[in-house]
Amino acid sequence: MYTLGIETSCDETSCAVLSGLKVLSNVTISSLKQHKKYGGVVPEVATRAHLKNIDKVFSAALHEAKISLKQIDLIAVTHKPGLIGALVVGLNFAKALSLGLDKPLIGVDHLRAHLFAAFLDGSRKIEFPFIGLVVSGGHTDIYLVKDFHRPKLIGATCDDACGESYDKVARVLGLGYPGGPVIDKIFDEKEKNAFKFKCGRKELDLSFSGIKTAVLYKKQELEDQGVLKREEMIRLVSSFQGAVVEAIVDTVRDAALKYKVKTVVCGGGVAANRYLRAQLIERAADLNVIIAPMRYTTDNAAMVAGLGFYLYNRGFKNGPRLKAQAR
Ligand code: KG4
Ligand code: ZN
Repeated sequence: MYTLGIETSCDETSCAVLSGLKVLSNVTISSLKQHKKYGGVVPEVATRAHLKNIDKVFSAALHEAKISLKQIDLIAVTHKPGLIGALVVGLNFAKALSLGLDKPLIGVDHLRAHLFAAFLDGSRKIEFPFIGLVVSGGHTDIYLVKDFHRPKLIGATCDDACGESYDKVARVLGLGYPGGPVIDKIFDEKEKNAFKFKCGRKELDLSFSGIKTAVLYKKQELEDQGVLKREEMIRLVSSFQGAVVEAIVDTVRDAALKYKVKTVVCGGGVAANRYLRAQLIERAADLNVIIAPMRYTTDNAAMVAGLGFYLYNRGFKNGPRLKAQAR
């Protein structure tokens, strides 16, 4: 069975073809460069880029998977959450295909798809329950997952999302956008305690807005003492990332303990972070930690197709009335 996945919730236009859970193609065009000068995603710019690129990624995904239009059996599309204009582009494309080809359509929740990314290519067996950790540019969510259609939100950020805090810290330090990959690259574990930063935490909820301000103040203080040298920049960034990763890993461990769950599944853009990946495995050694493979951490259509296929096999599907939902 061939599933076509479509993802347009933010700044990545992506189409993928899966055979069962095996990824045959996963083609993405990002409009990231066009947003760089604004320091964040501009919805209107992203929407126009989706309109321009969706045909291209669709044709390329079919070509790479070596299948024809008529061989598509199921169409899975992200319909929530995301930028509304951006979502509508992918959703309407999916609806038109579904009607034109007379093939079933299934709407997929983007955040659940980030978790499903851990199971693509059939590399891991899907077993419930698990603690699901979604760390992305828009979300920092912790779920108790008893099945993919009914995850229970048990923790979240009270303010900024984790990826958003990486982006904001990188911006105040003049490191460019997006901040996650840059900070990941220059992070030095030996410097993670150079400055005392801390994330806010209350039970299973987190807060990242205070630490962002603390980094800004520390930067200003260092600048007042002279020019901010590269070594100090590395200390700042490393102390920031050290605190963020510690808070996330602590919270996930507490969630597993509270709900007596042995497995943790992690996905989303920030799950690409090398230190977070290493710490999850090291500090949660008593748990079964499953992290989405690197190539499926940032937004992609393979994870959408995978979850769509999974849900369709459990009797879920949607019709042409399926709506895009921003939140
Ligand atoms: O999941 P994603 O591609 O889009 C959303 O659904 O939001 O996540 C994008 C976020 C950005 O904030 C980016 O800075 C962050 O993921 N990110 C990283 C890394 N790569 C991307 N954060 C930390 N370390 C990384 N290596
Ligand atoms: Zn995402």
